[in-house]
Amino acid sequence: MELLDIFLLFFAPIFLLLWWRRLFVTTRKGPEKGNLPPGPPGWPVVGNLFQVILQRRPFMYVVRDLRKVYGPIFTMKMGQRTLVILTDADLIHEALVQRGALFASRPAESPTRLVFSLGKCAINSAEYGPLWRALRRNFATEVVVSARVKQCGWVRKWAIENHMGRVKEEAQEKGYVEVMSQCRLTVCSIIICLCFGAKLSEEWIKSIESVLKEVMLMTLPKLPDFLPILTPLVARGQLKRAKELRRKQMEILGPLVQARKGFVESGGCPNSGDLDMASPVGAAYVDSLLGLDPPGRPGGLGVEELVTLCSEVINAGTDTSATVVEWVLLHLVLDQRVQQKLYEEIVDVVGKNGVVTEDDLEKMTYLNAIIKETMRRHPPSHFLLSHAATEDAVLGGYTIPKDANLEIYTAWVTQDPAHWPNPDVFRPERFLPGGEGYEVDWTGNRGVRMLPFGAGRRICPAWSLGTLHVGLLLARMVHAFRWVPIPGSPPDPTETFAFTMVMKNPLKAGILPRC
Ligand code: HEM
Repeated sequence: MELLDIFLLFFAPIFLLLWWRRLFVTTRKGPEKGNLPPGPPGWPVVGNLFQVILQRRPFMYVVRDLRKVYGPIFTMKMGQRTLVILTDADLIHEALVQRGALFASRPAESPTRLVFSLGKCAINSAEYGPLWRALRRNFATEVVVSARVKQCGWVRKWAIENHMGRVKEEAQEKGYVEVMSQCRLTVCSIIICLCFGAKLSEEWIKSIESVLKEVMLMTLPKLPDFLPILTPLVARGQLKRAKELRRKQMEILGPLVQARKGFVESGGCPNSGDLDMASPVGAAYVDSLLGLDPPGRPGGLGVEELVTLCSEVINAGTDTSATVVEWVLLHLVLDQRVQQKLYEEIVDVVGKNGVVTEDDLEKMTYLNAIIKETMRRHPPSHFLLSHAATEDAVLGGYTIPKDANLEIYTAWVTQDPAHWPNPDVFRPERFLPGGEGYEVDWTGNRGVRMLPFGAGRRICPAWSLGTLHVGLLLARMVHAFRWVPIPGSPPDPTETFAFTMVMKNPLKAGILPRC
């Protein structure tokens, strides 16, 4: 008997009792919420929760099948939570762009997530309101504004030089390169340096990466998140583990915040600590947060808040970008024609012996088409982060209650054959002049045909920075080496969910120096 079966047997009488009580209360008061979108019938109290769990497959596959039955907008009852799932491009555009302010909030968080977000003090989790506005505006004007991106170009140069050296070394040692782990480390080191202004050793970066991965695992939705009534019974242990992990996260990132604070307070004195503070005062994300006094946080932000805010951008920017690079390289390895065409474009722009710079990327139309096609065919995430309405609202003729999760399933938008002929085929030419994707606005503003970064008010605030990381890594890697399959381990495009949609068997590729 498995744990789940024991759980079901044990809790079945409780569920029935609660169902009976709920039925009684509902009959007296009338229906709870008016006209919800249709959806699969559920069990008493737990709704569709166990129907999903018992399928033992990622949630997005369940949703993909339900879309065929219930259409563009449907409801799932997951325990005490109501999820409204949106899958239709026009409805998504209406919700995120045309009526964006109404659907720009975030739903309630689980107690575990609240431990790490410090009560929703992060851009991604803050409700639509003054705190979110202040944090997001600060991030936009201090980190991703083009002058700052230019100023911090040396960070990418430093990290990518290290990357190229490591790639070469790994290929010499093992005969292949593990693309995902190398790219993760590189992107992570870039974002850590943007946050704290310090050049850290590889070992240090790896340990930060590993703690933040644990945090991401810990904050994935779990049973008590859907059944808060179980919190006192089941979630106590989970909460205890979350607090221990938070302590670990503070231990590894807190000293970096303190060191940067000391550096800023000393007016940028190079001898103010042990770290190599390579960014001048004012250039690191932490610097901008030290003086910020956002609404709802009297007294400004402390070390705890700064750790939360930096962790969120390291998490948000690392796996997403590294995943895209891995999928691109899979296709380049599988289709040498595409790789050769890209190589020729890079040589046209920088020559055989030049070094690709950030300014060169704009001239590489084929590279940009490859990145867009990869994000269409393999969106790093099949859902946006959960949205919520700021008040009860109507969408597609149905009620969206304020306390429901609005889940936007974006993968269908780029798989819809009505908009993307032969959607399973990888063809970057779609995004060149004359192709069906050429005029598509991938930020979704002018209409939704793909939305790898979301759209509207909650769109990824760093979408151009993420694209820069991906483009620069790819251009440098393809300029220096030809990427080829390795004998006995052909690239396998099977996907699986691990925070983002990654390759189930991470790509191992051989490299041949360009002559
Ligand atoms: C290829 C790279 C990236 C992809 C595909 C991506 C995708 C996304 C998506 C889908 C969302 C959710 C939008 C929504 O809920 O409607 C998001 C939000 C966010 N992303 Fe990114 N992202 C990328 C890179 C980055 C980077 C490099 C950073 C930071 C350095 C970052 C920081 C954030 C933040 C802070 C949010 C929360 C925005 C809010 O709630 O207002 N992302 N991203």
